[in-house]
Amino acid sequence: MSFPGYLKSPEQSNVLIADDDPLVRDAVVKILELFGHNVVAVSDGNEALKKASDDIDAIILDINMPGLSGFDTIKILNEGEFDIPVIFLTGAGTMEYAVKAINLGAYDFIAKPIEDLDLFEVKIRRAIEKRTFIRREKSYKENLEREVRKKTRQLAEKNILLEKYSHHLEVSSVNTIITLNTALEEKDQYTAGHTKRVTEYSQMIGKCMNLPKEEIDVVTRACQLHDIGKLVIDVSCIQKPGPLTDEEWILVKKHPEIGENIIKPLNFLEREGEIVRHHHERLDGKGYPDGLGGSEINLLTKIITVADSFDAMTSKRSYKINMSKDEALAELYACRNTQFDPVVVEAFAEILAKRK
Ligand SMILES: [Fe+2]
Repeated sequence: MSFPGYLKSPEQSNVLIADDDPLVRDAVVKILELFGHNVVAVSDGNEALKKASDDIDAIILDINMPGLSGFDTIKILNEGEFDIPVIFLTGAGTMEYAVKAINLGAYDFIAKPIEDLDLFEVKIRRAIEKRTFIRREKSYKENLEREVRKKTRQLAEKNILLEKYSHHLEVSSVNTIITLNTALEEKDQYTAGHTKRVTEYSQMIGKCMNLPKEEIDVVTRACQLHDIGKLVIDVSCIQKPGPLTDEEWILVKKHPEIGENIIKPLNFLEREGEIVRHHHERLDGKGYPDGLGGSEINLLTKIITVADSFDAMTSKRSYKINMSKDEALAELYACRNTQFDPVVVEAFAEILAKRK
């Protein structure tokens, strides 16, 4: 007799039989061996549980056995990992037992005494085939799970790399813009170092107000980029020795919007873009470009506004005499609630007092 490649021949199959009646047990062993199966024979349920292993292809269980009954045994087997088809041996006229056995997950049942040997062998072979399919399914599932785990791990590794590259790219993009901005500032002796100072002041205010690191990072980048819009404004207008004309003011006042547009393609700078746009807004709504007021202006923007104005007041301007730090602070106080946020001004005053 030949067997398909995925099925075991009887010589390779192991059948476990548990029956307390030695006559029945020996008879079943003999029949199984006659058909060429390897047989493991035990006399009760507990022994059967001990012998149940991955190598067993089918289990034949008597129902009434001392100690662990056949039904108790299958319940314990069901909780295990092997998933071996179980065939019950039932006495004649105990149909309800057979029904109960099937309900407990038995694969089949065989009536005692065994009279039809061919039918018996068919049932055993079907159980062994079932076991083969269970094994194949389990192995397929395990392979699939292993493959999914491997792919997930590879994907996670690629994601980490991608995040790393993306972070480098973000940092490089910001650095490029900052370099351009610094180059622009350094060309003008009156604006040189402005961005650096505004950044330092803002960071100090943020820390004084106990802002989390992430917020300090956002305010830092926003400071570094806040006047980037001036890159595209005619420098002669900014560096002009003397007050600006109305037309020149209109041009200068465009720099927050232009700045926001410059960094807009860099999606990760969305919050910074918003701050850049609004760093000339005032609490009383008289600022530009959108005339926002009060709570419409976010805290980080309010911080930059104070830092930016303070530096502008204390730095040398081509056509203005710069103020002392005390005078500039007095001006910040004077413009609390109209131009500047009073809490931010207080925090900045505290920092300046400590620095003295
Ligand atoms: Fe500005």
